[in-house]
Amino acid sequence: MNVILMGPPGAGKGTQAEIIKVAFPIPHISTGDMFREAVQNQTPLGKEAKKYMDEGKLVPDEVTIGIVEERLAQADCDQGFLLDGFPRTTIQAEALDKVLERLHKKIDTAINITVPTELLVRRVVGRISCKECKAIYNLEFNPPSQTGVCDICGGSLTQRSDDQEETARKRLEVYSEQTAPLLAYYENKGVLHTLRGDRETREVFADIKNILERL
Ligand code: AP5
Ligand code: MG
Ligand code: ZN
Repeated sequence: MNVILMGPPGAGKGTQAEIIKVAFPIPHISTGDMFREAVQNQTPLGKEAKKYMDEGKLVPDEVTIGIVEERLAQADCDQGFLLDGFPRTTIQAEALDKVLERLHKKIDTAINITVPTELLVRRVVGRISCKECKAIYNLEFNPPSQTGVCDICGGSLTQRSDDQEETARKRLEVYSEQTAPLLAYYENKGVLHTLRGDRETREVFADIKNILERL
């Protein structure tokens, strides 16, 4: 199954992806995670991406499309994949279609998670995640049992540098301008499913599971 997770910053794409990949054995491909790893390793890609990420802007299409193209060609994507945070522009969506055509694949479903804007901001500014296993927490909605320590692996918890309120609002603006128009793109293909993300994580997942089981 070839799946896209869509939705604004803070909608819960990463949170749901963590659960989805346990129930459905497909690789989770998050361009945001790939960029953050490159930033951490101080690679040329990381240095380039960081300039845009810290301002809440999108990394240029040609850079982003290149890394996804390479990732989708890897053998573990043969049985399916879960894209999170890609595509984010019409150019990226069209490029993805071309790549998939070459690989004789297509998108089976695009799941769009919606959450009211002010809740998105609260979720983003309260987010912390594990440096080691990348588990996602929230100081307000889903705090770890022990301050600053990951429940799962004991690793230390950290805040993303783009999770300041001002940057979060900029990212939401960029989402409305450049990414929200893509919903029509997938609606026209007949693969879009929209569901409310302002519910318990497990309730949102139950809906996603239903959609994926019917594929
Ligand atoms: P990226 O990493 O993709 O960030 P994003 O799209 O802004 O989305 P987030 O990761 O902020 O939100 P999420 O939906 O994953 O929410 P989460 O599950 O963590 O992109 C970062 C940057 O990289 C971009 O700004 C750009 O610069 C660059 N980039 C990435 N992809 C790109 C592309 N394709 N093109 C160009 N540039 C690109 O949840 C958020 C919080 O809410 C957490 O604290 C969580 O615990 C909490 N939460 C989640 N679900 C619930 C729930 N049901 N109830 C209560 N709390 C919840
Ligand atoms: Mg995410
Ligand atoms: Zn951890």
